[in-house]
Amino acid sequence: MPRYLTGIQSSGKPHLGNILGAIAPALELSKTSDAAFYFIADLHTLTSSKDPKALRENTLEVAAAWLACGLNVQKDVFYRQSQIPEVCELAWYLNCFAPYPMLANAHSFKDKSENLSSVNAGLFVYPMLMAADILMYDAEVVPVGKDQKQHLEMTRDVAEAFNRTMGPTFVVPEAYIREDVMTVPGVDGRKMSKSYGNAINVFEDEKSLRKRIMSIVTDATPLEAPKNPQTCTVFALYRAVAPADAVEELRRRYLEGNFGYGQAKQALFEAVMERFGPAREKFRHFVENPQIVEELLRLGEEKARSVSRPVLERVRRALGYSV
Ligand code: ADP
Ligand code: TRP
Repeated sequence: MPRYLTGIQSSGKPHLGNILGAIAPALELSKTSDAAFYFIADLHTLTSSKDPKALRENTLEVAAAWLACGLNVQKDVFYRQSQIPEVCELAWYLNCFAPYPMLANAHSFKDKSENLSSVNAGLFVYPMLMAADILMYDAEVVPVGKDQKQHLEMTRDVAEAFNRTMGPTFVVPEAYIREDVMTVPGVDGRKMSKSYGNAINVFEDEKSLRKRIMSIVTDATPLEAPKNPQTCTVFALYRAVAPADAVEELRRRYLEGNFGYGQAKQALFEAVMERFGPAREKFRHFVENPQIVEELLRLGEEKARSVSRPVLERVRRALGYSV
């Protein structure tokens, strides 16, 4: 069984797209592993945001979302990147093996490089902190979205360069790109994203959640006319959360006519409540009891350290910093 590892940024509140596109598939995958490693990449967040209050709140909510969705802390290792500061030491060693042109070519840097005065050095070496996250735990398979593919290639390149120069030290990981995962649309029909302000937060209070779902943009087809499920955002979201037979039923009603978007939105709201009801309860429990989340993360951090320490020792020895 391979060792899976993946990191999640804590740059905002978790939304339906994050749950269906990242959290649920990762938890599904962990069923085929003895111990998967999941961590909150809160040091990466510092490259874009310097707001301690928001960082704390988002970290708590992201952790609560993973726990509410069923992460098993007894089996899997769940921790905050910032609580294992040795990762910064490893990132430094890797920086010294990372050629400048490789880093200058990273999308995470290049996208911002038109305005260099707004780029901090942390953003420039972001891929090497990510490489350290992975290599620190001898991870073999790293499930990520397509946007992270290049960072995984850099991780492999730097691990191979290190192994070539200093002798075999790192496990060279594979990316696992989830091509089959659907892109969840937001309330405006574009990809759901924090940065578009179109996200649905399934952990929100019931009234706000309902209001949000009622705000989904639909076309002007009159009530009596048949509707096209293929182009409708409400239908796409319904398909993402409801059981297959309910989806078929809704499709039939769309095609039949005399079925309004208001009714479709109500059906979606009910399906979301049905699917996420238990998770919503758990989420509230965790957010209202942050000390429980803290304890669970500490447990994970102890387990994480028991793996990272010997790996770091191996690296120090290879470099001549320890005997
Ligand atoms: P955002 O676009 O809201 O900033 P992130 O880039 O932080 O989201 O994504 C975190 C994870 O959630 C990634 O693995 C990404 O692939 C997944 N994800 C984000 N939005 C969606 C979406 N609309 N549909 C499916 N997966 C998504
Ligand atoms: N950069 C990743 C993202 O923005 C998060 C991340 C940090 C990560 N370290 C990682 C993902 C290690 C996988 C493995 O989504």
